[in-house]
Amino acid sequence: MPQTIVTIGAQWGDEGKGIVVAELLRNADVCVRSQGGDNAGHTLYDSNGEKHVVNIAPSGTIFDHVTNVIGNGCVVNLQTLEENMNGAKGDLYISDAAHLIFEYHKLLDGAQESRRRKKIGTTKRGIGPAYVDKMNRSGIRAGLLKHPELLEEKLRSAIDLKNQELEFWGVEDRINPDAYLEKMKPLFEKYAPMVIDTRAYLISALHEGKLVIFEGAQGSNLDIDHGTYPNVTSSNTTIGGVLTGTGLSHKEIDRVIGISKVYTTRVGSGLMMVDGDAEDLINNMSNKDQYFQQCKLTDSDLEIIGSGDSNHPLYDQLVSRFIRESAEEFGATTGRPRRVGWLDLVVLRKSIEVNGLDGLILTRLDNLDGIPRIKICTRYVNKNTGEELKILPNNEPDLVGFEPEYIELKGWNSTASIRKLEDLPTEAREFVDCVKSTLGIDIYRVKNGPKQGDYVELKNPWSY
Ligand code: IMO
Ligand code: MG
Repeated sequence: MPQTIVTIGAQWGDEGKGIVVAELLRNADVCVRSQGGDNAGHTLYDSNGEKHVVNIAPSGTIFDHVTNVIGNGCVVNLQTLEENMNGAKGDLYISDAAHLIFEYHKLLDGAQESRRRKKIGTTKRGIGPAYVDKMNRSGIRAGLLKHPELLEEKLRSAIDLKNQELEFWGVEDRINPDAYLEKMKPLFEKYAPMVIDTRAYLISALHEGKLVIFEGAQGSNLDIDHGTYPNVTSSNTTIGGVLTGTGLSHKEIDRVIGISKVYTTRVGSGLMMVDGDAEDLINNMSNKDQYFQQCKLTDSDLEIIGSGDSNHPLYDQLVSRFIRESAEEFGATTGRPRRVGWLDLVVLRKSIEVNGLDGLILTRLDNLDGIPRIKICTRYVNKNTGEELKILPNNEPDLVGFEPEYIELKGWNSTASIRKLEDLPTEAREFVDCVKSTLGIDIYRVKNGPKQGDYVELKNPWSY
């Protein structure tokens, strides 16, 4: 059986990775984050059914039996970590080569975003500026938590420089070094003992036969190199990020599983060929109330969906709104509406290739329940030239003139609480088969409910 499993979001994040990882961790000993920071938002349920959202803490921190690792590829905000660790259970180690996020990173993130003519829609958690400092060799590593005097010296000089940068960007706030250090010192002291060479720890854990889950954050198509640049995050969210972000070699990776919703969502701006609504309309809404005031489905909208007339000019848009409403596709912390569209296999093919995915875990099948006609985008076609694209290209301008082409399947009534493949409605099984055969990839599990354990298993992720 595999000793290590990597999970990677196969779309643009928010695929339900947290819960899928928590399900896999039932049988595993170690949970590792390799990249990203507290831009992630992973929702989980502990053994008492209580809900937790973690951002930088690995998902295994809700279990007693799991040792958690924040790898060197991560950027760590200790204040968020402290919030996430409230009530946490398992052990935690932080790589001495991981970089720390400080208040000035967040202020700069906000300032730079507000100056952008075309917004990325960042989480304003300071992720980009922290990775800039890392790449510019001016970042501060977690290893310095073990050398408080050196840390203070470096932080004071960084604050001095960053205050000038804040002025340049027209930000009024300044960081007061004394006050900031006083606020942060208890956190520095608390987390210093957890800072180790996590690469060495992982090697020894693997030698001892421990089972390890690498927990993906963000999604393959938000990768700084292979995603829809510039509307991406600042780390390598793909398989390469697991290697550089932990210091392990490719020989230690036994299985790579992509996680995808059965439809597509995306937060913020950027390419999304299957978007059901106008990008600007959804992106200009900052919360749920605003969305419901403008877009709440009416009875006649529901009639159009119910008619199953998939050629109706409003069908795709209304279905995307139906999914947004019923599946609660609003940002977990901000409440911003997510953009919603049909499943896009062109996007998934790119993730399969870039990451060498062994298979997929599909999530949110139950959120397609009750939709009479269901579409899947299988390729993009240029209406003028007839040219087709089956894999997402790197640059958006290369897609001018292309439109998504869909196949259509019959919908089903309900999949809720079904636990066996053979008990799924025939149409739902046909949907899963269609994804599997069109992509030519294994499907391990299909989640059909929001809680851990709500899934149908097609193939055991732990067996060869
Ligand atoms: P999880 O792990 C969805 C998006 C942001 C923004 C872009 C850049 O929960 O799936 P950043 O703050 O990273 O510089 O923002 O990336 N983004 C995510 N979208 N899920 C995430 O994480 C994301 N992390 C970043 O919305 O468009
Ligand atoms: Mg998220």
